[in-house]
Amino acid sequence: MKLADNKATLSFSNGGPSVELPVYQGSIGPDVIDIRKLYAQTGMFTYDPGFLSTASCQSAITYIDGDKGELLYRGYPIEQLAVNCDFLETCHLLLYGELPNADQKKTFSDTVTRHTMVNEQMQFFLRGFRRDAHPMAVLTGLVGGLSAFYHDSTDINNPEHREIAAIRLIAKMPTLVSMAYKYGIGQPYMYPRNELSYAGNFLRMMFGVPPEDYVVNPVLERALDRIFILHADHEQNASTSTVRLCGSSGTNPFAAIAAGVACLWGPAHGGANEACLNMLEDIQRNGGVSKVGEFMEKVKDKSSGVKLMGFGHRVYKNYDPRAKLMQETCNEVLNELGLENDPLFKLAKELEKIALEDDYFVQRKLYPNVDFYSGIVQRAIGIPVNLFTGIFALARTVGWIAQLNEMIGDPEYKIGRPRQLFDGATKRDVKPLAQR
Ligand code: ACO
Repeated sequence: MKLADNKATLSFSNGGPSVELPVYQGSIGPDVIDIRKLYAQTGMFTYDPGFLSTASCQSAITYIDGDKGELLYRGYPIEQLAVNCDFLETCHLLLYGELPNADQKKTFSDTVTRHTMVNEQMQFFLRGFRRDAHPMAVLTGLVGGLSAFYHDSTDINNPEHREIAAIRLIAKMPTLVSMAYKYGIGQPYMYPRNELSYAGNFLRMMFGVPPEDYVVNPVLERALDRIFILHADHEQNASTSTVRLCGSSGTNPFAAIAAGVACLWGPAHGGANEACLNMLEDIQRNGGVSKVGEFMEKVKDKSSGVKLMGFGHRVYKNYDPRAKLMQETCNEVLNELGLENDPLFKLAKELEKIALEDDYFVQRKLYPNVDFYSGIVQRAIGIPVNLFTGIFALARTVGWIAQLNEMIGDPEYKIGRPRQLFDGATKRDVKPLAQR
């Protein structure tokens, strides 16, 4: 870490001695004040629920400038990666720090491809779930369950184990997500095919059936690959921080990633694409574009508890750059499938137009996030709404692993253990039952 020229001085109005705190500079982005010795020096903690002002780690993977609406993976703008690279190149970049050359790309793709099958016994594990279980419930179980099947890659402190676990997780997530889907609809699982691309293979495992050949549509393949790239990492978001915190105890990588899957499920995070599509369908059912004004009034009325899903972001206070790319993909997919007049797409565009001009949204700097259009694309491809977050988990797995491995390799890494401001009962004595 590079020390900045200045230091921070913390002084107290009660005359207590002031404390000097070091300031560190990153390569870009805000400086940080090092408060690690604060408790030892003052007996006080800092208070920051929701981590609004806290950098929990140093990282060299992903950088977001929320005011500019900029997203960089290892320094490369997401707009360039989405246009010039595929998902496996992006995985290589996130995991190892550099885009692969042609040889490295081939080796990496071959390695991932050779790990796409899952232990046959996983099928029987899956059968324990109800057929109507939410795919995220199934995936949380299946991903955690991998640790019971792959004993040779569970030591998080062994770099070789971490490497094999990383490849296995990236390779097997599409297989697990499609198995969860097929199980829910009662169709046979499709084994992976090695000659197909990562996204093409996933499409076939989702929508192919054994009696017929499945022909991958290149426009849908590219769209899905782009969804994967756009969701691959997003620095210290809730699920990534969960993976880091979980992994900080030394637990195995599969367990740590399962914790990330569980966190991603929530509607304020990865579940937003599902919630967004449900919202659009709800408005459509209740009158469509003509009811947009009425709906927006509800959104602005805090007592209604209604939010415009797919809008707003903790970090972006500008257009989410992924939302622009996703809107482009949405156009391509709908054109390819002859769905140019899709009513939900029209509705989404109308909502976006109104929101971008409305004072409520302008003042709060609320813009569309990646989930605003990703649900429409996925629905057009044929992915059921309750699987959207599973697709997100599939794509984010590489980011989670890259962040987890970065943490384990950091000499300053410690078990994550936040403190608290206690405001409960002070010490008291237990009364016998009859006197309570
Ligand atoms: N609709 C209406 N009002 C909103 C919305 C929204 N989608 N998002 C934020 N606001 C309002 C809040 O009510 C708050 O208003 P106030 O200042 O009058 O109290 C203000 O904007 C600031 O919002 P916060 O909730 O304080 O912002 P925070 O950073 O905590 O939340 C979050 C960010 C959770 C993403 C929020 O914007 C949200 O719930 N959006 C909808 C869900 C969503 O799309 N999530 C996806 C996130 S991206 C991802 O995970 C891939």
